[in-house]
Amino acid sequence: MTTTQRLLALILTGAALSTYGADADAHWKEHCAKCHGEDGKGGTKMGKKLGIADLTDPKVQAKFTDEQAFKAMKSGLIDDKGKTTMKAVEGLSDAEMKALVPYLRAFKK
Ligand code: HEC
Repeated sequence: MTTTQRLLALILTGAALSTYGADADAHWKEHCAKCHGEDGKGGTKMGKKLGIADLTDPKVQAKFTDEQAFKAMKSGLIDDKGKTTMKAVEGLSDAEMKALVPYLRAFKK
């Protein structure tokens, strides 16, 4: 690799990383906020109806692992009575869903 190529690679990586965060923000607002709220507190109409937990609460965050958070998005969630509470997310790739895990972790106070 020449110096110029190296420099270019560095710039591109930086750009990719910063759009990653911006994507997660946009994806949260588009796919998650109607239930979980833009602030993660679940205070939306849907959130109240579904009894969504407050993601800014460390106790709530401690209830699921990163893996479970990803699985919730990928496969959805079913309650004790076999009713679907959170539908599987549509239209996001695995990588995009994984990028939402640190995003939702950041709601924790
Ligand atoms: C149709 C409403 C709805 C949408 C849209 C939704 N969720 Fe959920 N989500 C729920 C409900 C209901 C629960 C279960 C109650 C709770 O834990 O608060 C839940 C739980 C979770 C949990 C906890 C998982 C666990 O194992 O306890 C995570 C993490 C989560 N959602 C992330 C997301 C993300 C990220 C998105 C967007 C990609 C999203 N949700 C979109 C309704 C929704």
